[in-house]
Amino acid sequence: MSPLKRVLVVLCSFVTVAALAIGGGILWLWNDAEISTVGKESFDNELSIPPLAKSRVDRDGTRVFDLRMQAGEKEFTNGRKTPTWGFNGDYLGPTLRAERGEKVRVQIKNGLDEASTVHWHGMHLPAKMDGGPHQMVRPGGRWNPHWRVDQPASTLWYHPHPHGATEKHVQRGLAGMFLLDDQQSARLPLPKKYGVDDLPVIVQDVKFDGAKFDHGHEMMRHAGFLGDRTMVNGTLRPYQKVGDELVRLRLLNASTARTYDFGFPDDRSFSLVGTDGGLLEQPARMKRIQLSPGERAEVVVRMEPGEKTVLRSFPQDNYGSAWEQRFSGGDDSFDVLELRAAKQLRASDGLPQRLGKLEVPDGKNPVRGRFFDLKQSGINGRAMKMNRVDETVTRGTTETWTVRNNNGMPHNFHVHDVQFRVLEVNGDAPPPELRGAKDTVFLPSGTTMKLAMRFDGPADPDTPYMYHCHLLAHEDGGMMGQFAVVERGHRAGTPSGEHAGH
Ligand code: C2O
Ligand code: CU
Ligand code: CU
Repeated sequence: MSPLKRVLVVLCSFVTVAALAIGGGILWLWNDAEISTVGKESFDNELSIPPLAKSRVDRDGTRVFDLRMQAGEKEFTNGRKTPTWGFNGDYLGPTLRAERGEKVRVQIKNGLDEASTVHWHGMHLPAKMDGGPHQMVRPGGRWNPHWRVDQPASTLWYHPHPHGATEKHVQRGLAGMFLLDDQQSARLPLPKKYGVDDLPVIVQDVKFDGAKFDHGHEMMRHAGFLGDRTMVNGTLRPYQKVGDELVRLRLLNASTARTYDFGFPDDRSFSLVGTDGGLLEQPARMKRIQLSPGERAEVVVRMEPGEKTVLRSFPQDNYGSAWEQRFSGGDDSFDVLELRAAKQLRASDGLPQRLGKLEVPDGKNPVRGRFFDLKQSGINGRAMKMNRVDETVTRGTTETWTVRNNNGMPHNFHVHDVQFRVLEVNGDAPPPELRGAKDTVFLPSGTTMKLAMRFDGPADPDTPYMYHCHLLAHEDGGMMGQFAVVERGHRAGTPSGEHAGH
């Protein structure tokens, strides 16, 4: 061989070896990136049901709740104490419950050594009561938001919203449900015995490092934190005994970045009866329901006497590219909650044909449309700024908001204060799970949605509401904007740039 040939041969084999190593590395990462707990959970802990919050009724008829944010520790696994935060307890919070038309006040005490807030996700209320980043409560401080409940029966929730630290505060355990009832929901023959045939199901993914939570972000996963197992209502490996033919699950995805696609191993159908903002017009038969962070769904499942089944989250079709699916959690699967039916089940009423009347606008005569381009770096090209109001809307008007994600990664979109109707998904009519009242929607890359919403106020030019991606690492990183509701012809003021407590 000539010297030149020899050099070439050496060079070629070197390149081949390098290519194989890189290829092997990618293959290893690819295989390593998939997480599954399917078939691996022992389901040996009884599901904990968050207690219904105690309340009292003031002389003026206001229902009053007390919530204290506090640090603590909880034994998720026997003998291991995990440092946690919670409302009125070690982890998560009680379920608040009120009726349409009632005045409510929540007396909040921040017993943490950090400032935080409490936001009422899905609630229509004055901007000052919203608990967003402008309503910080300093350590040791108090805050007493109050409003009149004026929206349909629904499964809402509450969680902190301090700008830049929401992911951390929620991960440590600050979240709870807020259920609303109304005359219609009281009349309907739906399962409604709380903790018996009407179960709160707060799903969160977690990762442990010994006794402690591991909240690290992995490099390849730009969704933010993705845990390697799930908990329901703060219970690992949970099971729940059921004694009724029909069980209503109020599913809340309280995870910070993970999207689930819930169903059952035998592919049974269940009935979707409610979405974020309340009951659908009629039940929809489904086999899967996809929920991104912040979204809720009320589903009714039929149980057979003596059976065991598992609420499972399956690998997802609607998640974006194969790369995204693999590295941002779309291929992952989890056995979330085991349901154990008694040998004899109490008979349940059949589901009604008609459930409710949607109160979200049909979008026929919007006063204007707006466009939102979702990027991890910011919405419409700018990162969140506390003292900049991005959009000014007029009280009492309906608008259409077109939201687009072509950012190459999954995002979702949440709007404070309103429930909206999804008019279109990529130009088509929405699927059944998007035909109810929504406040949060999932948009894999390549998705455009048109939403209709009405801003009923009250007007407050100086205090904005938020819209943002509810993947909390994205929100914290600036993927959020502010809108103010003003009277016709008025302008928004300049909110304070600080998020200091009071
Ligand atoms: Cu559930 Cu602005 O958040
Ligand atoms: Cu919210
Ligand atoms: Cu996002």
